[in-house]
Amino acid sequence: MHHPLRRTTVSRLPAVILQRKLATSSSSSKQPPELPPCDFVPDLAESKLGKFEIERIHKLNLNPSLKPYYSEPLLITQGHRQYVWDNKKRRYLDMFGGIVTTSVGHSHPTLLETISRQSRKLWHVSSVYLNEEVHEYAAKLANHFPEPLNNVIFCNSGSEANDIALLMARSFTGAFDVVALRNAYHGCSTSTMPLCGVGVWKFPVPLNFGFTHTACPDPYRGRVGGRFCRDSPVQTNRSCDCKEGGGCAAAEYYAEELEEVLSSTLPKRIAGFFAESIQGVGGTVQYPKGFLQRAYELVKARGGLFISDEVQTGFGRTGEHFWGFQGHGIVPDIVTMAKGIGNGFPLAAVITTQSVASSLTRAMHFNTFGGNPLSSAVGSAVLDIIEAEKLQENSLRVGTLLLRKLAELRDGRFSDIVGDVRGKGLMIGLELMVSKERNHRTAVPMPVEQVNGIFEDCRSMGLIIGKGGPSGNVFRIKPPMCITEADVTFTVDVLKVAFERHYERLARSSQK
Ligand SMILES: Cc1ncc(COP(=O)(O)O)c(C=O)c1O
Repeated sequence: MHHPLRRTTVSRLPAVILQRKLATSSSSSKQPPELPPCDFVPDLAESKLGKFEIERIHKLNLNPSLKPYYSEPLLITQGHRQYVWDNKKRRYLDMFGGIVTTSVGHSHPTLLETISRQSRKLWHVSSVYLNEEVHEYAAKLANHFPEPLNNVIFCNSGSEANDIALLMARSFTGAFDVVALRNAYHGCSTSTMPLCGVGVWKFPVPLNFGFTHTACPDPYRGRVGGRFCRDSPVQTNRSCDCKEGGGCAAAEYYAEELEEVLSSTLPKRIAGFFAESIQGVGGTVQYPKGFLQRAYELVKARGGLFISDEVQTGFGRTGEHFWGFQGHGIVPDIVTMAKGIGNGFPLAAVITTQSVASSLTRAMHFNTFGGNPLSSAVGSAVLDIIEAEKLQENSLRVGTLLLRKLAELRDGRFSDIVGDVRGKGLMIGLELMVSKERNHRTAVPMPVEQVNGIFEDCRSMGLIIGKGGPSGNVFRIKPPMCITEADVTFTVDVLKVAFERHYERLARSSQK
Protein backbone atom coordinates (compact mmCIF):
# COMPACT_ATOMS: atom_id res chain seq x y z
CA MET A 1 0.00 0.00 0.00
CA HIS A 2 1.12 3.51 -0.81
CA HIS A 3 2.21 5.36 2.34
CA PRO A 4 0.69 8.86 2.43
CA LEU A 5 4.12 10.37 3.16
CA ARG A 6 5.38 9.02 -0.14
CA ARG A 7 2.52 10.13 -2.39
CA THR A 8 3.74 12.30 -5.26
CA THR A 9 0.88 12.30 -7.82
CA VAL A 10 0.41 15.72 -9.40
CA SER A 11 -3.04 17.26 -9.64
CA ARG A 12 -4.18 20.79 -10.32
CA LEU A 13 -6.26 23.33 -8.48
CA PRO A 14 -9.75 23.13 -10.04
CA ALA A 15 -10.19 25.92 -12.65
CA VAL A 16 -13.38 27.28 -11.00
CA ILE A 17 -11.63 27.75 -7.67
CA LEU A 18 -8.69 29.38 -9.39
CA GLN A 19 -10.90 31.83 -11.28
CA ARG A 20 -12.71 32.72 -8.06
CA LYS A 21 -9.37 33.28 -6.33
CA LEU A 22 -8.05 35.59 -9.02
CA ALA A 23 -11.32 37.55 -9.20
CA THR A 24 -11.06 38.36 -5.48
CA SER A 25 -7.39 39.36 -5.36
CA SER A 26 -6.59 43.07 -5.45
CA SER A 27 -3.49 44.53 -7.08
CA SER A 28 -2.25 45.68 -3.63
CA SER A 29 -2.31 42.07 -2.46
CA LYS A 30 0.51 41.41 -4.92
CA GLN A 31 2.74 44.32 -3.87
CA PRO A 32 5.93 43.24 -2.09
CA PRO A 33 5.82 44.31 1.59
CA GLU A 34 8.58 46.43 3.08
CA LEU A 35 11.24 44.88 5.30
CA PRO A 36 11.14 46.14 8.90
CA PRO A 37 13.63 49.01 9.40
CA CYS A 38 17.21 48.22 10.43
CA ASP A 39 19.79 50.88 11.32
CA PHE A 40 22.83 48.63 10.87
CA VAL A 41 25.00 49.73 7.96
CA PRO A 42 26.75 46.83 6.21
CA ASP A 43 30.33 47.05 5.09
CA LEU A 44 30.30 48.35 1.52
CA ALA A 45 33.48 46.55 0.38
CA GLU A 46 33.06 44.63 -2.88
CA SER A 47 33.27 40.84 -2.84
CA LYS A 48 36.94 39.86 -3.43
CA LEU A 49 36.19 37.17 -5.98
CA GLY A 50 32.92 38.25 -7.54
CA LYS A 51 29.90 36.03 -8.02
CA PHE A 52 30.95 34.58 -11.36
CA GLU A 53 34.31 33.37 -9.99
CA ILE A 54 32.65 32.03 -6.84
CA GLU A 55 30.25 29.96 -8.93
CA ARG A 56 33.13 28.65 -11.05
CA ILE A 57 35.11 27.60 -7.95
CA HIS A 58 31.98 26.09 -6.43
CA LYS A 59 31.60 23.78 -9.44
CA LEU A 60 35.29 22.94 -9.71
CA ASN A 61 36.65 22.80 -6.17
CA LEU A 62 33.81 22.06 -3.77
CA ASN A 63 31.83 18.96 -2.81
CA PRO A 64 29.66 18.29 -5.91
CA SER A 65 26.84 17.16 -3.64
CA LEU A 66 26.35 20.72 -2.34
CA LYS A 67 23.32 22.22 -4.06
CA PRO A 68 22.69 25.86 -3.15
CA TYR A 69 19.08 27.02 -2.86
CA TYR A 70 17.52 29.13 -5.65
CA SER A 71 17.88 29.14 -9.44
CA GLU A 72 20.17 32.17 -8.99
CA PRO A 73 22.13 31.13 -5.85
CA LEU A 74 22.22 33.69 -3.08
CA LEU A 75 25.70 35.01 -2.25
CA ILE A 76 25.51 36.19 1.36
CA THR A 77 28.26 38.59 2.34
CA GLN A 78 27.27 39.93 5.75
CA GLY A 79 24.93 39.33 8.66
CA HIS A 80 23.60 41.31 11.60
CA ARG A 81 21.13 39.85 14.11
CA GLN A 82 18.19 38.42 12.08
CA TYR A 83 19.24 40.04 8.78
CA VAL A 84 21.75 39.14 6.06
CA TRP A 85 22.99 41.08 3.02
CA ASP A 86 23.86 39.73 -0.42
CA ASN A 87 26.72 40.77 -2.70
CA LYS A 88 24.55 43.59 -4.07
CA LYS A 89 24.00 44.91 -0.50
CA ARG A 90 20.40 43.82 -0.57
CA ARG A 91 18.97 42.96 2.84
CA TYR A 92 16.99 39.80 3.66
CA LEU A 93 15.16 38.62 6.74
CA ASP A 94 16.79 35.31 7.61
CA MET A 95 13.98 33.03 8.78
CA PHE A 96 16.08 29.88 8.40
CA GLY A 97 19.11 30.86 10.52
CA GLY A 98 21.65 28.92 8.43
CA ILE A 99 19.56 25.75 8.94
CA VAL A 100 18.43 26.34 12.53
CA THR A 101 21.94 27.27 13.64
CA THR A 102 22.15 31.05 14.06
CA SER A 103 20.41 30.92 17.40
CA VAL A 104 21.17 34.31 18.96
CA GLY A 105 21.67 36.32 15.76
CA HIS A 106 24.36 36.97 13.15
CA SER A 107 27.58 38.66 14.36
CA HIS A 108 26.23 39.15 17.85
CA PRO A 109 28.35 41.88 19.56
CA THR A 110 28.93 39.76 22.70
CA LEU A 111 30.21 36.89 20.56
CA LEU A 112 32.45 39.21 18.55
CA GLU A 113 33.92 40.45 21.80
CA THR A 114 34.24 36.91 23.22
CA ILE A 115 35.96 35.55 20.12
CA SER A 116 38.33 38.48 19.99
CA ARG A 117 39.20 38.29 23.72
CA GLN A 118 39.57 34.50 23.80
CA SER A 119 41.55 34.25 20.58
CA ARG A 120 44.04 36.77 21.91
CA LYS A 121 44.32 34.69 25.09
CA LEU A 122 44.23 31.02 23.98
CA TRP A 123 42.74 29.09 21.03
CA HIS A 124 43.78 25.53 21.40
CA VAL A 125 45.68 23.25 23.72
CA SER A 126 43.92 19.84 23.37
CA SER A 127 42.49 17.76 26.19
CA VAL A 128 45.90 16.43 27.26
CA TYR A 129 46.15 19.72 29.21
CA LEU A 130 43.55 21.49 31.31
CA ASN A 131 42.00 24.76 30.21
CA GLU A 132 39.70 26.89 32.31
CA GLU A 133 37.13 27.65 29.60
CA VAL A 134 35.95 24.08 28.99
CA HIS A 135 35.43 23.49 32.72
CA GLU A 136 33.45 26.68 33.18
CA TYR A 137 31.36 25.84 30.13
CA ALA A 138 30.76 22.15 31.01
CA ALA A 139 29.43 23.14 34.45
CA LYS A 140 27.24 25.91 32.98
CA LEU A 141 25.81 23.65 30.25
CA ALA A 142 25.16 20.80 32.72
CA ASN A 143 23.21 23.27 34.90
CA HIS A 144 20.67 23.54 32.11
CA PHE A 145 19.80 19.83 32.42
CA PRO A 146 17.86 17.87 35.00
CA GLU A 147 19.85 15.43 37.14
CA PRO A 148 21.32 12.88 36.61
CA LEU A 149 22.43 14.33 33.27
CA ASN A 150 25.74 15.98 34.18
CA ASN A 151 28.57 14.50 32.16
CA VAL A 152 29.40 16.43 28.98
CA ILE A 153 31.42 15.22 26.00
CA PHE A 154 32.31 18.01 23.58
CA CYS A 155 32.75 17.43 19.86
CA ASN A 156 32.36 19.23 16.53
CA SER A 157 29.12 18.39 14.77
CA GLY A 158 25.68 16.90 15.28
CA SER A 159 26.70 13.77 13.39
CA GLU A 160 29.69 13.28 15.68
CA ALA A 161 27.51 13.86 18.76
CA ASN A 162 25.11 11.14 17.56
CA ASP A 163 28.08 8.85 16.74
CA ILE A 164 29.27 9.19 20.33
CA ALA A 165 25.76 8.61 21.70
CA LEU A 166 25.51 5.46 19.59
CA LEU A 167 28.89 4.22 20.81
CA MET A 168 27.95 4.83 24.45
CA ALA A 169 24.55 3.16 24.10
CA ARG A 170 26.16 0.03 22.66
CA SER A 171 29.14 0.05 24.97
CA PHE A 172 27.01 0.64 28.09
CA THR A 173 24.23 -1.86 27.39
CA GLY A 174 26.32 -4.52 25.69
CA ALA A 175 23.46 -4.73 23.18
CA PHE A 176 23.71 -3.72 19.54
CA ASP A 177 20.33 -2.91 18.04
CA VAL A 178 19.08 0.65 17.79
CA VAL A 179 15.60 1.82 16.88
CA ALA A 180 14.80 5.16 15.22
CA LEU A 181 11.80 6.77 13.54
CA ARG A 182 11.05 6.85 9.84
CA ASN A 183 11.43 10.35 8.45
CA ALA A 184 14.12 11.17 11.04
CA TYR A 185 17.44 12.86 10.26
CA HIS A 186 20.40 12.31 12.57
CA GLY A 187 23.44 13.10 10.43
CA CYS A 188 25.52 12.15 7.43
CA SER A 189 28.43 10.14 8.86
CA THR A 190 28.61 6.45 7.98
CA SER A 191 27.24 5.51 11.40
CA THR A 192 24.45 8.11 11.56
CA MET A 193 23.35 7.72 7.93
CA PRO A 194 21.71 4.34 8.67
CA LEU A 195 20.00 5.96 11.70
CA CYS A 196 18.19 8.34 9.35
CA GLY A 197 14.77 7.31 8.13
CA VAL A 198 14.80 9.21 4.84
CA GLY A 199 15.96 7.42 1.69
CA VAL A 200 17.50 10.42 -0.04
CA TRP A 201 20.19 10.53 2.64
CA LYS A 202 21.26 6.89 2.17
CA PHE A 203 24.26 5.93 0.07
CA PRO A 204 24.19 2.52 -1.63
CA VAL A 205 27.34 1.38 0.19
CA PRO A 206 27.82 -0.92 3.20
CA LEU A 207 27.08 1.12 6.31
CA ASN A 208 27.09 0.58 10.06
CA PHE A 209 24.35 -1.98 10.74
CA GLY A 210 21.91 -2.83 13.54
CA PHE A 211 19.26 -0.15 12.88
CA THR A 212 15.50 -0.67 12.69
CA HIS A 213 12.91 2.00 11.97
CA THR A 214 9.41 2.27 13.31
CA ALA A 215 6.45 4.28 11.95
CA CYS A 216 6.76 8.06 12.02
CA PRO A 217 4.04 9.27 14.41
CA ASP A 218 2.85 12.13 12.20
CA PRO A 219 -0.66 13.28 13.22
CA TYR A 220 -1.18 15.13 9.92
CA ARG A 221 0.00 12.71 7.21
CA GLY A 222 0.22 9.45 9.13
CA ARG A 223 -2.37 6.69 9.29
CA VAL A 224 -3.80 7.84 12.60
CA GLY A 225 -4.07 11.32 14.09
CA GLY A 226 -6.40 14.16 14.78
CA ARG A 227 -7.05 17.64 15.99
CA PHE A 228 -5.93 17.22 19.61
CA CYS A 229 -2.68 15.34 19.12
CA ARG A 230 0.00 17.95 19.05
CA ASP A 231 1.70 19.96 21.73
CA SER A 232 1.33 23.11 19.63
CA PRO A 233 -0.89 26.21 19.51
CA VAL A 234 -1.98 24.94 16.07
CA GLN A 235 -3.61 21.56 15.55
CA THR A 236 -4.22 19.67 12.31
CA ASN A 237 -7.56 20.32 10.65
CA ARG A 238 -8.01 16.56 10.40
CA SER A 239 -10.95 14.93 12.15
CA CYS A 240 -9.94 12.96 15.19
CA ASP A 241 -9.53 9.18 15.29
CA CYS A 242 -10.03 9.05 19.06
CA LYS A 243 -12.99 7.35 20.67
CA GLU A 244 -14.79 9.49 23.21
CA GLY A 245 -13.43 8.98 26.73
CA GLY A 246 -10.40 6.98 25.49
CA GLY A 247 -6.76 8.10 25.41
CA CYS A 248 -5.05 9.52 22.32
CA ALA A 249 -5.65 6.93 19.58
CA ALA A 250 -2.64 8.17 17.61
CA ALA A 251 -0.14 7.95 20.50
CA GLU A 252 -1.46 4.47 21.23
CA TYR A 253 -1.33 3.35 17.58
CA TYR A 254 2.28 4.43 17.07
CA ALA A 255 3.37 2.99 20.43
CA GLU A 256 1.83 -0.34 19.35
CA GLU A 257 3.75 -0.11 16.08
CA LEU A 258 6.95 0.34 18.07
CA GLU A 259 6.05 -2.54 20.34
CA GLU A 260 5.45 -4.72 17.30
CA VAL A 261 8.82 -3.77 15.83
CA LEU A 262 10.52 -4.55 19.14
CA SER A 263 8.85 -7.88 19.62
CA SER A 264 8.88 -9.10 16.02
CA THR A 265 12.22 -7.90 14.68
CA LEU A 266 14.67 -7.41 17.53
CA PRO A 267 16.32 -9.41 20.28
CA LYS A 268 15.01 -9.09 23.84
CA ARG A 269 17.57 -6.46 24.75
CA ILE A 270 18.37 -3.41 22.63
CA ALA A 271 21.02 -0.70 22.87
CA GLY A 272 18.75 2.29 22.46
CA PHE A 273 16.16 4.43 20.75
CA PHE A 274 16.89 7.74 18.99
CA ALA A 275 14.34 10.48 18.37
CA GLU A 276 14.33 14.21 17.70
CA SER A 277 11.85 16.02 19.97
CA ILE A 278 10.34 17.52 16.82
CA GLN A 279 11.62 16.22 13.48
CA GLY A 280 13.58 18.95 11.71
CA VAL A 281 14.78 17.96 8.24
CA GLY A 282 11.72 15.67 7.99
CA GLY A 283 9.47 18.77 7.87
CA THR A 284 8.83 19.88 11.49
CA VAL A 285 6.86 16.75 12.32
CA GLN A 286 5.46 16.71 15.86
CA TYR A 287 4.35 13.48 17.49
CA PRO A 288 1.08 12.92 19.30
CA LYS A 289 1.36 13.92 22.95
CA GLY A 290 2.30 10.94 25.08
CA PHE A 291 3.98 8.97 22.28
CA LEU A 292 7.56 9.59 23.45
CA GLN A 293 6.62 8.72 27.01
CA ARG A 294 5.22 5.36 25.87
CA ALA A 295 8.29 4.83 23.67
CA TYR A 296 10.51 5.58 26.69
CA GLU A 297 8.76 2.87 28.74
CA LEU A 298 9.01 0.30 25.94
CA VAL A 299 12.70 1.00 25.36
CA LYS A 300 13.49 0.86 29.09
CA ALA A 301 11.68 -2.47 29.39
CA ARG A 302 14.21 -3.85 26.87
CA GLY A 303 17.24 -2.42 28.66
CA GLY A 304 17.80 0.27 26.02
CA LEU A 305 18.89 3.89 26.45
CA PHE A 306 16.64 6.73 25.31
CA ILE A 307 18.60 9.21 23.20
CA SER A 308 17.12 12.59 22.51
CA ASP A 309 18.54 14.42 19.48
CA GLU A 310 18.20 18.11 20.40
CA VAL A 311 20.38 19.33 17.54
CA GLN A 312 17.51 21.51 16.22
CA THR A 313 15.11 21.73 19.14
CA GLY A 314 17.53 22.71 21.91
CA PHE A 315 18.56 26.02 23.47
CA GLY A 316 15.10 27.45 24.02
CA ARG A 317 13.89 27.27 20.42
CA THR A 318 10.65 25.49 21.27
CA GLY A 319 9.76 28.31 23.68
CA GLU A 320 8.12 26.64 26.63
CA HIS A 321 11.23 24.67 27.54
CA PHE A 322 14.96 24.93 27.08
CA TRP A 323 15.04 21.38 25.64
CA GLY A 324 12.41 19.82 23.42
CA PHE A 325 12.31 16.57 25.46
CA GLN A 326 11.00 18.54 28.45
CA GLY A 327 7.76 19.06 26.53
CA HIS A 328 7.35 15.28 26.43
CA GLY A 329 7.74 14.71 30.18
CA ILE A 330 10.77 12.43 29.97
CA VAL A 331 14.40 12.59 31.06
CA PRO A 332 16.48 10.86 28.38
CA ASP A 333 19.64 8.88 29.16
CA ILE A 334 21.63 10.78 26.53
CA VAL A 335 21.01 14.14 24.85
CA THR A 336 22.88 15.31 21.74
CA MET A 337 23.30 18.98 20.77
CA ALA A 338 24.84 20.98 17.90
CA LYS A 339 23.79 23.82 15.54
CA GLY A 340 22.39 26.55 17.84
CA ILE A 341 24.86 25.62 20.61
CA GLY A 342 27.55 27.81 18.99
CA ASN A 343 25.42 30.18 16.86
CA GLY A 344 27.33 28.81 13.83
CA PHE A 345 30.68 28.24 15.56
CA PRO A 346 31.72 24.57 15.00
CA LEU A 347 30.73 23.03 18.31
CA ALA A 348 28.56 20.14 19.48
CA ALA A 349 28.05 18.17 22.68
CA VAL A 350 26.59 15.07 24.24
CA ILE A 351 25.36 14.95 27.82
CA THR A 352 24.65 11.82 29.80
CA THR A 353 24.86 10.33 33.29
CA GLN A 354 28.13 9.48 35.05
CA SER A 355 27.46 5.76 34.68
CA VAL A 356 26.67 5.86 30.95
CA ALA A 357 29.67 8.14 30.33
CA SER A 358 31.91 5.64 32.12
CA SER A 359 31.28 3.26 29.21
CA LEU A 360 33.70 5.49 27.26
CA THR A 361 36.57 4.31 29.46
CA ARG A 362 36.50 0.77 28.04
CA ALA A 363 39.04 1.97 25.49
CA MET A 364 40.71 5.31 24.70
CA HIS A 365 38.23 7.95 23.53
CA PHE A 366 39.45 11.25 22.19
CA ASN A 367 38.89 13.99 19.62
CA THR A 368 41.28 16.85 18.91
CA PHE A 369 38.97 19.86 18.95
CA GLY A 370 36.27 18.91 21.48
CA GLY A 371 36.40 21.33 24.42
CA ASN A 372 38.72 23.72 22.63
CA PRO A 373 38.99 26.97 24.70
CA LEU A 374 37.75 29.19 21.88
CA SER A 375 34.66 27.11 21.10
CA SER A 376 33.98 26.67 24.84
CA ALA A 377 34.09 30.44 25.36
CA VAL A 378 31.67 30.90 22.45
CA GLY A 379 29.29 28.19 23.73
CA SER A 380 29.35 29.71 27.18
CA ALA A 381 28.60 33.20 25.82
CA VAL A 382 25.70 31.80 23.73
CA LEU A 383 24.10 30.47 26.94
CA ASP A 384 24.58 33.87 28.60
CA ILE A 385 23.00 35.71 25.66
CA ILE A 386 19.97 33.38 25.57
CA GLU A 387 19.42 34.15 29.25
CA ALA A 388 20.24 37.89 29.19
CA GLU A 389 18.09 38.61 26.13
CA LYS A 390 15.31 36.23 27.20
CA LEU A 391 15.46 34.51 23.83
CA GLN A 392 13.57 31.43 25.00
CA GLU A 393 10.71 33.68 26.12
CA ASN A 394 10.94 35.54 22.80
CA SER A 395 10.75 32.23 20.91
CA LEU A 396 7.57 31.39 22.75
CA ARG A 397 5.92 34.81 22.34
CA VAL A 398 6.91 35.63 18.76
CA GLY A 399 6.80 32.00 17.62
CA THR A 400 3.25 31.54 18.91
CA LEU A 401 2.20 34.75 17.16
CA LEU A 402 3.71 33.53 13.89
CA LEU A 403 2.13 30.09 14.24
CA ARG A 404 -1.30 31.65 14.80
CA LYS A 405 -0.95 34.01 11.84
CA LEU A 406 0.15 31.17 9.58
CA ALA A 407 -2.81 29.11 10.78
CA GLU A 408 -5.06 32.01 9.67
CA LEU A 409 -3.63 31.62 6.16
CA ARG A 410 -4.38 27.91 6.27
CA ASP A 411 -7.91 28.46 7.51
CA GLY A 412 -8.65 31.46 5.29
CA ARG A 413 -7.94 32.44 1.72
CA PHE A 414 -5.13 29.94 1.23
CA SER A 415 -6.87 26.91 2.68
CA ASP A 416 -6.61 25.14 -0.69
CA ILE A 417 -2.82 25.14 -0.70
CA VAL A 418 -1.72 25.44 2.94
CA GLY A 419 -2.43 21.95 4.26
CA ASP A 420 -0.86 22.20 7.69
CA VAL A 421 0.89 24.59 10.04
CA ARG A 422 2.73 23.10 13.01
CA GLY A 423 5.49 23.49 15.53
CA LYS A 424 6.31 25.17 18.80
CA GLY A 425 8.11 28.41 19.48
CA LEU A 426 10.39 29.22 16.57
CA MET A 427 10.49 25.65 15.20
CA ILE A 428 7.76 25.97 12.57
CA GLY A 429 6.61 24.08 9.48
CA LEU A 430 4.06 24.98 6.82
CA GLU A 431 3.04 22.15 4.49
CA LEU A 432 1.88 23.00 0.96
CA MET A 433 -0.69 20.86 -0.79
CA VAL A 434 -2.09 20.94 -4.28
CA SER A 435 -5.84 21.03 -3.91
CA LYS A 436 -8.64 21.81 -1.52
CA GLU A 437 -8.70 18.17 -0.51
CA ARG A 438 -9.37 18.01 3.23
CA ASN A 439 -8.85 14.28 3.60
CA HIS A 440 -5.25 13.83 4.73
CA ARG A 441 -5.15 10.38 3.09
CA THR A 442 -5.96 11.67 -0.38
CA ALA A 443 -4.47 15.16 -0.19
CA VAL A 444 -1.54 15.55 -2.56
CA PRO A 445 1.71 17.37 -1.71
CA MET A 446 2.32 20.42 -3.87
CA PRO A 447 4.77 19.42 -6.64
CA VAL A 448 8.30 20.62 -6.05
CA GLU A 449 8.33 22.96 -9.08
CA GLN A 450 5.31 24.81 -7.67
CA VAL A 451 6.81 24.91 -4.18
CA ASN A 452 9.98 26.31 -5.73
CA GLY A 453 8.02 29.06 -7.49
CA ILE A 454 6.70 30.28 -4.14
CA PHE A 455 10.10 29.80 -2.50
CA GLU A 456 11.85 31.89 -5.18
CA ASP A 457 9.21 34.61 -4.87
CA CYS A 458 9.82 34.84 -1.12
CA ARG A 459 13.51 35.33 -1.75
CA SER A 460 12.79 37.99 -4.38
CA MET A 461 10.82 39.90 -1.73
CA GLY A 462 13.63 39.62 0.85
CA LEU A 463 12.48 36.59 2.86
CA ILE A 464 14.73 33.56 3.34
CA ILE A 465 13.08 30.36 4.56
CA GLY A 466 13.97 26.66 4.34
CA LYS A 467 12.41 23.61 2.70
CA GLY A 468 12.07 20.04 3.85
CA GLY A 469 9.83 17.02 4.33
CA PRO A 470 9.86 13.76 2.36
CA SER A 471 8.04 15.39 -0.57
CA GLY A 472 9.99 18.68 -0.35
CA ASN A 473 6.73 20.57 0.21
CA VAL A 474 7.23 21.88 3.75
CA PHE A 475 8.50 25.39 4.38
CA ARG A 476 10.76 25.32 7.42
CA ILE A 477 10.78 28.53 9.44
CA LYS A 478 13.43 28.47 12.18
CA PRO A 479 15.01 31.91 12.46
CA PRO A 480 17.47 33.39 14.93
CA MET A 481 15.53 33.60 18.20
CA CYS A 482 15.86 37.41 18.31
CA ILE A 483 13.23 38.13 15.62
CA THR A 484 10.52 40.68 16.39
CA GLU A 485 6.78 41.03 15.83
CA ALA A 486 7.55 43.27 12.83
CA ASP A 487 9.53 40.37 11.31
CA VAL A 488 6.53 38.08 11.87
CA THR A 489 4.24 40.53 10.05
CA PHE A 490 6.71 40.83 7.18
CA THR A 491 7.04 37.02 6.86
CA VAL A 492 3.29 36.51 6.73
CA ASP A 493 2.79 39.38 4.27
CA VAL A 494 5.48 38.03 1.94
CA LEU A 495 3.93 34.56 2.02
CA LYS A 496 0.51 36.03 1.17
CA VAL A 497 1.92 37.82 -1.89
CA ALA A 498 3.89 34.72 -2.92
CA PHE A 499 0.72 32.61 -2.69
CA GLU A 500 -1.22 35.13 -4.83
CA ARG A 501 1.53 35.00 -7.43
CA HIS A 502 1.36 31.21 -7.31
CA TYR A 503 -2.35 31.37 -8.26
CA GLU A 504 -1.48 33.68 -11.15
CA ARG A 505 1.16 31.26 -12.41
CA LEU A 506 -1.35 28.41 -12.21
CA ALA A 507 -3.92 30.46 -14.14
CA ARG A 508 -1.38 31.32 -16.82
CA SER A 509 -0.31 27.72 -17.22
CA SER A 510 -3.94 26.52 -17.37
CA GLN A 511 -4.59 28.96 -20.27
CA LYS A 512 -1.72 27.55 -22.31
C1 LIG B 1 18.28 16.58 14.17
C2 LIG B 1 19.67 16.57 13.59
N1 LIG B 1 20.57 15.73 14.10
C3 LIG B 1 21.84 15.69 13.63
C4 LIG B 1 22.23 16.51 12.59
C5 LIG B 1 23.63 16.43 12.07
O1 LIG B 1 24.33 17.60 12.42
P1 LIG B 1 25.64 18.04 11.63
O2 LIG B 1 25.21 18.50 10.27
O3 LIG B 1 26.23 19.14 12.48
O4 LIG B 1 26.54 16.85 11.55
C6 LIG B 1 21.30 17.41 12.04
C7 LIG B 1 21.69 18.29 10.92
O5 LIG B 1 20.87 18.85 10.22
C8 LIG B 1 19.99 17.44 12.55
O6 LIG B 1 19.07 18.26 12.05
